[in-house]
Formats: sequence, structure tokens, C-alpha cells
Amino acid sequence: MRTQVGIVGAGPAGLMLAHLLHLQGIESVIIEARSRQYIEERVRAGVLEQGTVDILNRTGIGERMRKEGLLHHGIEIGFQEKRHRIDMTDLTGKAVVVYGQHEVVKDLVNARLGSGGKIVFNVEQVSIHRLNDEHPVIHFSENGTLEQLHCDYIAGCDGFHGICRQSIPEGALTVYDRIYPFAWLGILADAPPSQEELVYANHERGFALYSMRSPKVTRLYLQCDPAEDIANWSDDRIWSELLTRLIGVDGWQPNQGPILQKSVTPMRSFVVEPMQYGRLFLAGDSAHIVPPTGAKGMNLAIADVRVLAHGLAAYYKSGNSETLAAYSETCLRRVWKVQRFSWWMTSILHRFPDANSFDQRRQTAELDYVTSSEAGARSLAENYVGLPLNLAN
Ligand code: FAD
Ligand code: DHB
Repeated sequence: MRTQVGIVGAGPAGLMLAHLLHLQGIESVIIEARSRQYIEERVRAGVLEQGTVDILNRTGIGERMRKEGLLHHGIEIGFQEKRHRIDMTDLTGKAVVVYGQHEVVKDLVNARLGSGGKIVFNVEQVSIHRLNDEHPVIHFSENGTLEQLHCDYIAGCDGFHGICRQSIPEGALTVYDRIYPFAWLGILADAPPSQEELVYANHERGFALYSMRSPKVTRLYLQCDPAEDIANWSDDRIWSELLTRLIGVDGWQPNQGPILQKSVTPMRSFVVEPMQYGRLFLAGDSAHIVPPTGAKGMNLAIADVRVLAHGLAAYYKSGNSETLAAYSETCLRRVWKVQRFSWWMTSILHRFPDANSFDQRRQTAELDYVTSSEAGARSLAENYVGLPLNLAN
């Protein structure tokens, strides 16, 4: 099999890349380890930055998002039992849309298959070769048959645990890493949201987040120990902890309902530099991970592939690979700013086990500053709605 760009992984990064390339007349094939049903049902991120919303709309796949997505103009930050609103639209002129990552994945899969694109699901034994050659190749097996996909470039969009980053020789990459001493216990509840906007709460028992997926389904998270066994968390215990952390002096609380799904997600910050090796380009979680506070993971994955598609389009149109060669540098400037924001949101909202009383007072002062100073609030809002993506020429 032969194509122009071989893409490993059908997450938001791989699917969006294939879609953008198709619009530029560039062929690609995606190979994916899981089934179509699995990737379309996997519940993960839920907040789309303005730039992500715009690119979905501009490239013709925003129709369902416009109908079903929930437009949010602000967020609330809770501490010391009071909630403070940050009006993002007032401060930046932009907004975010709450629309599940798996819905974006569904829309992208439909668009790809609807326009004759090729996604090979359920592949096994994936490996990539000849990365420094003009014609790299992806080996995989489909239904027990070994296949080879010959291409001009490979996009490693296979997430944090994928094989692409791991196929780069040791010493070619530098890793920057931080592991946090807590995790998020996340639930999806069959309960209508009790207010429109998200609430990020810093409570003495730990962080809690109130979010949603639709007018009928609430999404909530609790800071917990990374080694926490989900089996120790009965539905009653989860609701009791959520209510303790989220209820404000005004009596607001989330609606309760049957818990549809629960899981524990560890938290880390991780970046590799550069995001390229020979003809392999890493994009999304295969190159970097952010802690979830601030909802940047999927947005960052989409931003990477916009840069990559731009570079590939320039190359295929004019034979000039300068823009493509700048891929890693262009992405990393923004990646590090998003890393900074996700780390900062995490650091102001969570309880750190080793924090002393000075750290505690300083953290409260920081929350007070951000929610009472227009300059402080604007900085948060500017990052939350998404920093601009500066595509060079
Ligand atoms: P992925 O979405 O991970 O896609 C990679 C794809 O590659 C997968 O479909 C995988 O099956 C496939 N793959 C892997 N290995 C191979 C292989 N060898 N061959 C072929 N295919 C392969 N972000 C937020 O902003 N908010 C959240 O609430 C949030 N919650 C999360 C919860 C969990 C459990 C996880 C893991 C992540 C969460 N994230 C969240 C992060 C966000 O979902 C990711 O940043 C986003 O999915 C990145 O997209 P991606 O396309 O780079 O990678
Ligand atoms: C969600 C996840 C986040 O990490 C966040 O900051 C806000 C919302 C969510 O899953 O809804």
C-alpha cells in the first residue's frame, strides 16, 4: 500500500490531520489499534477552545457541534466557600464550547469515511521503519495479514503510550517531565447540570470540578490519591465528597443522579523535544501531556496538526520544505505556554500534600488576585479560551 502521509492513531490529532490534508488535496491513510466503536465511545476531554471551534466550523465539520455543543462565556472559581465568575467573553471577546472529545472523533471519522478516506481499524504489530530515508514505511497486521504502508512522511499521532515516540533512537530526544502527587477521579452522571458554567473549586479536602456533557449529563472530578483504587469509591462516597467540596455559602450544589462511568486518571506534565525525527513528526499526546486542569490536551493536539498540515501543504504545493522543517519549533513555542498554563491552573487549584502554611496562604492570595484583579482574570481568560496559533507564512 502507498500513500503520501501515513498516520498512526485515529485520535483527535490523527483524524484532524487526515481531514486537513484531504482539504489540501493530500492523500493519507490512518492506521488505528482499536475498533471504530471503541474510539467513538471513549470519554475524555470536553472543552473546545475558540480556535478549535473555529477550525471545525471552517473545515465543514462543525454542524453537530453547533447544534449540540454548549457555548460558555465564563467559568467560576470557588475557594473559601465562595464562587467567583471570570467572564471570558468580556475579557477576551472569545468563548469556549463544551462538546465531548468522542463527539469530535465521531464527526471526524464520518467526514473522513464520507469522503472516501481510509482508516484501518484494529491493526496489530505496528512498527515504523526507514525514518531517515526518503520513503519511510509502516508495518502492521490487519486480520492476521502483514501489511506495509509506504509513504513520504509519517505522522505519529498514537498518543502517550504509542510506538512512534518510542521508535526514535535514544539520545535523539530530550524529555521534560513532572509527575503530580495526585490524580482525578472522574464521573459521568445521569443528572442535568444545575448551572450553566463550569466550577473549578479549591477546597481544604482537595480540588473538585463541576462540568457537563449535555443538558442531561453532568461530568464531575475530584482530586484523589494517584494510587486510589476506584473500587473503594462507592457512588455514595463520591457524591458526599463532591458535595462537601462544591457546595458554596449560597447553597448551590450539583444535581445528583446515577453514575454512568467512573475512572481515575493520573496527572503529569511531559514534553519531548524536538517533535520530529527524520521523516517522522510527533503530534498531540505522543509528544506532550498536560495535566487536565484547564482542558488543554485535545486542543493542543489539534493545534499541532494544524501546524503540520500547513507545513505539508507548503511542501506538496511548492516542493519547499522550510515550513515543515520549522514544525517542531513552531509547535513548541505554543506547547510550552500551554504547559505553563496547565501547570499553573493545577498549582493554584489543588491541595499539595507537602504544602506548608506559607504555601497555603500564598495559594489563597493567588486565587484572590486572579478573581479580583482584571489583569489577573484576563490572563487566565486569555489562556483558557486558547492562545493564538501563529502559522508562519
Ligand atoms: P489519543 O486521543 O490518545 O489518540 C491516539 C490514538 O492512537 C488512539 O486512538 C490509540 O488507540 C491509537 N494508538 C495507540 N497506539 C497505537 C499503535 N501502536 N498503532 C495504531 N494506533 C495506536 N484532556 C482534557 O483536556 N480534559 C480531560 O478531561 C481529559 N481527560 C482525559 C482522560 C483520560 C483517561 C486520558 C487518557 C486523557 C484525557 N485528556 C483530557 C487528554 C486528551 O484526551 C488528550 O490530550 C487527547 O486525546 C490527545 O489526542 P491525540 O490524538 O494526541 O491522542
Ligand atoms: C473538563 C475537563 C477539564 O480538564 C477541564 O478543565 C474542564 C472540563 C471536562 O471533562 O468536562
